[in-house]
Amino acid sequence: MTEHHRETRAVHVPFPQPTGRALNVPLFQGGVFAFDDAEEMAAAFDGPPAMAGQGEGDGNTGDGNARGAFLYSRLANPTVRALEDAVADLEGGVGALAAGSGMGAINTVLRALLRTGDHVIAQRCLYGGTHTTLRELTERWGVEVTYVSGDDPGEVRAALRPTTRILYLETIANPTTQVIDLPALIAAAPGVVSVVDNTFATPLLCRPIEYGADVVVHSATKYLGGHADVLAGVAVFADTGLLREVWDSGTELGATADPFAAWLVLRGMATLSLRMERHCSNAQTLADCLSAHPAVTAVHYPGLPSHPNHEIGRRILSGSGGVLSFELAGGRTAGRTFIESVRLASLAASLGDVKTLVMHPASTSHRKLDAATLAAAGIGEGTVRIAVGIEHPEDIWSDLEQALTKAG
Ligand SMILES: Cc1ncc(COP(=O)(O)O)c(C=O)c1O
Repeated sequence: MTEHHRETRAVHVPFPQPTGRALNVPLFQGGVFAFDDAEEMAAAFDGPPAMAGQGEGDGNTGDGNARGAFLYSRLANPTVRALEDAVADLEGGVGALAAGSGMGAINTVLRALLRTGDHVIAQRCLYGGTHTTLRELTERWGVEVTYVSGDDPGEVRAALRPTTRILYLETIANPTTQVIDLPALIAAAPGVVSVVDNTFATPLLCRPIEYGADVVVHSATKYLGGHADVLAGVAVFADTGLLREVWDSGTELGATADPFAAWLVLRGMATLSLRMERHCSNAQTLADCLSAHPAVTAVHYPGLPSHPNHEIGRRILSGSGGVLSFELAGGRTAGRTFIESVRLASLAASLGDVKTLVMHPASTSHRKLDAATLAAAGIGEGTVRIAVGIEHPEDIWSDLEQALTKAG
């Protein structure tokens, strides 16, 4: 065969197709997969390749690429599939869809399952982005939403309508750290698709599918990734029918995860159990220290016996999480001084990072709200949220203590 020109060789670079076993999940950054014959390619066009939980004959033989069916990475990619299968396995689901962010996963699920006229029952205290999505679905799509406190299954039963399609909950809510009685709330809405945001708990502290949830969503940007260096989301499904329904519409929406993001989340997940142990033990130590500090009027952490959902937490969580919030006696001014005085911790909006992050909603994300509106959202003027990192607890506490002294 004549040798191709340099211009062609620069495009068609030979690369090894390893026969050995890679120790780690390889990064298939490519967006497109090639085929040897038309029949194989036609089969790939017919539907998604190997989805976890689908038996042989559906294309899943466990190697993730039976029949060479990866076609185009918006539809499926081997690295992304490894993440989907890993999170589905930890959550006890049949399969998953990875998205470009937590909001990508949440929107993919809601937009795939809801139709005009459908009714949603949602917990009042939800991540702000989810609230915004529900409001938009109400205004633009004619979806109706009833908000419930999440403290009483009777409220869910009373809100049910023939058109109720989704019950939307968060395992540990933000920033109040409310822990809901998942089994009781889900059981109160039989026949309704229950969607649970398990970002704060991770599958190591709680597996909502064990309590009857149909879909579990994650911002993998947080604890799953764990290092604040990646944006990703995952939706896990308890049955293949729902997975297929959401997959069909999600791959059209195009919110699917980038392979490198999936690879970073997988790398982070290898240390998830160690990090969660440390996040939880550090948060418990700080909750105890803060509870004894004179500048602090209340501490909200499910690991404290004083927390209203402490008993529920003991029942459904195997650890109280890495996020706590507390109230400063000095209100809005004290909150602002506190977040501007920390030195080891960072003033930052996220959570689930190895580093400790602090937030004061009343002077940042919720600055436009007056005291009454803040209170309705479960936030005080002096509420500070701490997403506790994995540093040595004494170093975090001495930083918080000096900031508390300044905040008075
Ligand atoms: C509980 C929860 N769900 C979903 C999201 C959205 O995730 P992402 O920022 O990855 O889109 C967040 C983000 O903070 C969150 O805290």
